[in-house]
Amino acid sequence: TAITLIGAPSDAGAARLGAAMGPDALRVAGLGPALARLGIEVKDLGNLAGPPNPQAVPTHGLRHLDECVTWNRAVFQAVSDALDDARLPIMLGGDHQLAVGSIGAVAHHCHAQGKRLHVLWLDAHSDCNTPELSPSGNLHGMPVAALYGLGPAPLATLSGETPALRPGDICQIGLRSVDDDEKRMIQKLGLEVYDMRAIDELGMREIMQRALRGLDDGVHLHVSFDVDFLDPEIAPGTGTAVRGGVNYREAQLCMEMIADTGRMASLDIVEVNPALDLRNQTAELVVDLVQSLFGKSTLARDLRR
Ligand code: ARG
Ligand code: MN
Ligand code: MN
Ligand code: MN
Repeated sequence: TAITLIGAPSDAGAARLGAAMGPDALRVAGLGPALARLGIEVKDLGNLAGPPNPQAVPTHGLRHLDECVTWNRAVFQAVSDALDDARLPIMLGGDHQLAVGSIGAVAHHCHAQGKRLHVLWLDAHSDCNTPELSPSGNLHGMPVAALYGLGPAPLATLSGETPALRPGDICQIGLRSVDDDEKRMIQKLGLEVYDMRAIDELGMREIMQRALRGLDDGVHLHVSFDVDFLDPEIAPGTGTAVRGGVNYREAQLCMEMIADTGRMASLDIVEVNPALDLRNQTAELVVDLVQSLFGKSTLARDLRR
């Protein structure tokens, strides 16, 4: 497969500024060349254009809806174009509300191709708030609800596939910060969730075996990687860090097991915030992990067991 990098420098969905610099931090950390070294053709489209964060106060339970819709339309188009060209899009965020556009495009593509969509959502958060439920009004806490057709109509209907996701389409891993009403939403939507406790008790290997069950060649696997999935001790450069996250070895195993399926066909890398980072270590760690996600391994494939 050939990869298209799509920079989406938005922080309009977040409380803190800085995630808009995420795409460039990932480039400075060498993401494109690292993938090219694995023998993959990489094309970097550069950054999409879009509105800045107006830093408004929430009204009707949310803020910056117009800006976020504009960003998501641009992402939807760019991801759709890459998929139409049979390329693997990597959307470089930016904040996580951009997943409405990227996963919306993937859902649309899957519908047209007769593929089943499976989303792995790697995150400290469930991101399934609606404006009625959200304690913050920040749209990066709402993309999963929007993909299930809930919340503001321009986002809930953005892809033309309403809802873009159906029960069983998404599996969330790494959760450790879920708002009270959000817990009910997880149940209502029937999300498959593996929180940090599940990882502690069962181990990352068992969690990933469960999360990746049943991926045949009729499945399009999308990975939405919010870097706050990782423990803040190793990945401090993100806006809503929560202690007790996934450690380095667990993250590597997670990525390697996804790579082993050979089914990943699109990827989001979101919530890298260089303004909160230490010498770009978070972007550098992400580049390291993403190499594993695309098949880098210590031993030759046929020597592994
Ligand atoms: N649950 C909180 C909220 O809705 C935090 C969401 C954080 N989301 C993220 N993509 N970092 O405001
Ligand atoms: Mn998130
Ligand atoms: Mn998060
Ligand atoms: Mn599924």
